[in-house]
Amino acid sequence: MSVLKRFEEILITLPAGVLIVFWFLGTPNLCVAYNQINPLVYDEQLLWVSGGAGQVNTYRIPILTFTLKGSLLAFSEARKGSSSDYGAKFIAVRRSTDRGATWSPTSFIVDDGILEDGLNLGSVVVDEDTGSVLLLYSLCFHRYHCSPSSTMLVESVDDGLSWGRPRNLSVQLGVQSFAPGPGYGIQKRYPPAVGRLVVCGHGSIDGDGVFCVLSDDHGKTWTNGAALKSIPFNQHKLELDFNPDECQPVEMEDGSIVINVRNQYNYHCRCRIVVRSTDGGQSLPLEGLTFDHTLVDPVVAAGALQKEGIMYFTNPANDHERINLTLRWSLSNGTSWEKDVVQIWPGPSGYSALTSLTGSHPEDRKFIYLVYEKGHKNYIETISFAKIHLYGGI
Ligand SMILES: *[C@@H]1O[C@H](CO)[C@@H](O)[C@H](O)[C@H]1NC(C)=O
Ligand SMILES: *[C@@H]1O[C@H](CO)[C@@H](O)[C@H](O)[C@H]1NC(C)=O
Ligand SMILES: *[C@@H]1O[C@H](CO)[C@@H](O)[C@H](O)[C@H]1NC(C)=O
Repeated sequence: MSVLKRFEEILITLPAGVLIVFWFLGTPNLCVAYNQINPLVYDEQLLWVSGGAGQVNTYRIPILTFTLKGSLLAFSEARKGSSSDYGAKFIAVRRSTDRGATWSPTSFIVDDGILEDGLNLGSVVVDEDTGSVLLLYSLCFHRYHCSPSSTMLVESVDDGLSWGRPRNLSVQLGVQSFAPGPGYGIQKRYPPAVGRLVVCGHGSIDGDGVFCVLSDDHGKTWTNGAALKSIPFNQHKLELDFNPDECQPVEMEDGSIVINVRNQYNYHCRCRIVVRSTDGGQSLPLEGLTFDHTLVDPVVAAGALQKEGIMYFTNPANDHERINLTLRWSLSNGTSWEKDVVQIWPGPSGYSALTSLTGSHPEDRKFIYLVYEKGHKNYIETISFAKIHLYGGI
């Protein structure tokens, strides 16, 4: 397995090397530009508009993934009756096979059929050994007129074209409330635990904090992994209590997992909690916990991505309001952030999620992709997709 992985890495590295040599011979000035991160919103389009036609009142909670065949899949909650986190919902999906230029019509792949407290998205993870796309979500997360809470999984083995029947992971994991993501899960590329799927999310009052679930057999079986528990645990919270909430893990090149976390009650700062696992998602020790004061946050789900040694982060960069969606990047593994930022949208903006294609196509090194909640009066009006060129369009 590891020999195969290493072989793939060499295959991916080769064309990149060839590309740089080619550029050096042809247009040396581009070589410099290629190393200089200078993000530019290259294309933007609305994937979903709330309050519109049909059986959907509001689209929220966008998440995004690449596939191994180079497609992009965007998911959201299609809330049937109202904009509330509770209530009945579908999972909506759109798919792009041309790097975000055009998108399939919306298909609804899951219908929760629950009136009071239906499904909540969710975390999508691609198994790079099998090519499967696995989407985890919760049912009855808030236990509002329903019980128990379940962690569910749907899987696509055909690049997101069709989806299997939902599987109930609570049979293995237990019925505690667990809301995966929202965002993506990772598959470990570097030791320890190469190949492991790691999906992180948060709990609720009966056991809140950040929790990760793990699979070492490509999503067949799952176990409970790391926990970063809230204080006071399993009790009613007050403002300024410690309550790590919605989160996005990324894998660093040293094999550690860094999780960027919503700081629900503004413990210590109005900014993001960052916590690190060095054992493949089995523990999140307090010694590995920091607060990132640069990442000022209004308490929201944010996007994080690690691509070719550079970390990217998106959130509404404001300490009280969900406005001003901003892209930042770090050349130091997230220990500091570049002074330059890109303002994606000054107005109302909420949840966001990032991805990037990982193939050997030269385009795949140049772009990252973003979905986020965007509006004029309120951030829940639309879900927008932005294709971001990392090198200023060059
Ligand atoms: C999922 O499994 C758990 C544990 O067996 C069970 O209590 C729960 O009702 C199941 N959920 C669904 C939606 O079937
Ligand atoms: C929006 O973000 C930019 C860049 O960080 C910052 O300069 C500006 O003050 C922010 N505006 C608001 C209203 O938050
Ligand atoms: C980031 O982490 C990698 C892997 O541990 C390391 O090689 C590199 O030097 C780090 N970069 C900085 C700027 O600290």
